[in-house]
Amino acid sequence: MKISVIGCGYLGAVHAACMAKLGHEVVGIDVDERKVTELSAARAPFFEPGLEDLLKDVQSTGRLSFSSDIASAEGSAVHFICVGTPQKKGENGADMAYVDAAVSDLLPHLSPGDLVVGKSTVPVGTAARLSTKIRESQPAAHLLWNPEFLREGHAVSDTLNPDRLVYGVTGGSEEHPSVETLDLVYSAPLEAGTPRLVMDLPTAELVKTAANSFLATKISFINAMAELCDAVGADVTLLADAIGMDDRIGRKFLDAGIGFGGGCLPKDIRAFMARAGELGADQALTFLREVDAINMRRRTRVVEITRELCGGSLLGKRLTVLGAAFKPKSDDVRDSPALSVAAQLQLQGAVVTVTDPEALTNAARRFPELHYEESTEAALRRADALLLLTEWPEYRDLDPYDAARLVASPRILDGRNVLDSNKWRAAGWTYRGLGRP
Ligand code: UGA
Repeated sequence: MKISVIGCGYLGAVHAACMAKLGHEVVGIDVDERKVTELSAARAPFFEPGLEDLLKDVQSTGRLSFSSDIASAEGSAVHFICVGTPQKKGENGADMAYVDAAVSDLLPHLSPGDLVVGKSTVPVGTAARLSTKIRESQPAAHLLWNPEFLREGHAVSDTLNPDRLVYGVTGGSEEHPSVETLDLVYSAPLEAGTPRLVMDLPTAELVKTAANSFLATKISFINAMAELCDAVGADVTLLADAIGMDDRIGRKFLDAGIGFGGGCLPKDIRAFMARAGELGADQALTFLREVDAINMRRRTRVVEITRELCGGSLLGKRLTVLGAAFKPKSDDVRDSPALSVAAQLQLQGAVVTVTDPEALTNAARRFPELHYEESTEAALRRADALLLLTEWPEYRDLDPYDAARLVASPRILDGRNVLDSNKWRAAGWTYRGLGRP
């Protein structure tokens, strides 16, 4: 099929490459010329495992191209809207400017029978509004809402082998003409047995925000337990293992630590609360305010524990932060808890060095005042304390004896509870976890 993908960020670039991999002829469109140039040369404009190989693989087939001209969408039967919906400045709600602009720009290029497929995370009600807009301009075109559940760091496999496919259509019927068209697009995952659920537009939009809110709630739940564990000297990692063995609860997303960040969970729960308020249903989501508050408290808690670890004062202490990305396998620093903690420590008088295998360029752009060091060994040298804040494998696998020889004082705060505390203590380290004795 001929497909256009509008917006080539984390979601769109991966989606475009994966659709070409599935055998379709794809054009990825983005207003950012730099992204278009990079992607056209089969270079990923951000770090995502497997993406660059996939780009090279599909571009050699001639099925994937990129353009900054929206007119390139003409002739495609299916148009995916993959642009961002960041948090509005100074407000909780989502900024819909990019989605609205993408759809308005696309309208003059739609032909009868075309299918517009929304993948961006949007406030419930957006799809119905956009559907009306599309029909007013091209009555024989359809809109379908197909939320995306990919995780950064696993984006390629999540797109090629999704857990489920959600189709939101006006009226919610399987008989809607656009269902058959999207089934053709996803024929490979559907044949491989991926479940596909057809529902009405608002339900499909809610599935996405509900899923991210649930994940955020799960993380804040275990972080709240970590606060209690800290108060009584219990171990939150063992608690998570034990409750997680009940398969109604499950062990995934129960890793207590410095909390969640990134371009999705924090802004999505806030946009969800803002939208519920507009709908007069704000009470339904007031618990998300607590989820957000527990999450933000983690960052303050890490600063406090670091102060304790440094003997009561941060002034002039040389601190090394291991990890800047919001999670491993990503160079994304949007709302990264690791960077936020690094910046707070610096503001409180510490001399902070940050290291990360992939995210330093993005981190330096966001917080130019911090000191960055590419080599882990150089970053460790003469540190008064280490803070492991993003659990990249190279930091999880650090040898405590080798590390002890480099630092000034063997003190470590394990912000993700991933180190073997006994091993580190045996090597002479003062070890602090979060919610661990
Ligand atoms: C999240 C969702 O997991 C995806 O399903 C969704 O498609 C995506 O948002 C989106 O809306 O686009 P992502 O932002 O890539 O994906 O990151 P997650 O893997 O969900 O991690 C989010 C944050 O939670 C990270 O900072 C991570 O370190 C933290 N986390 C995760 C914990 O603190 N504890 C855990 O147990 C799990």
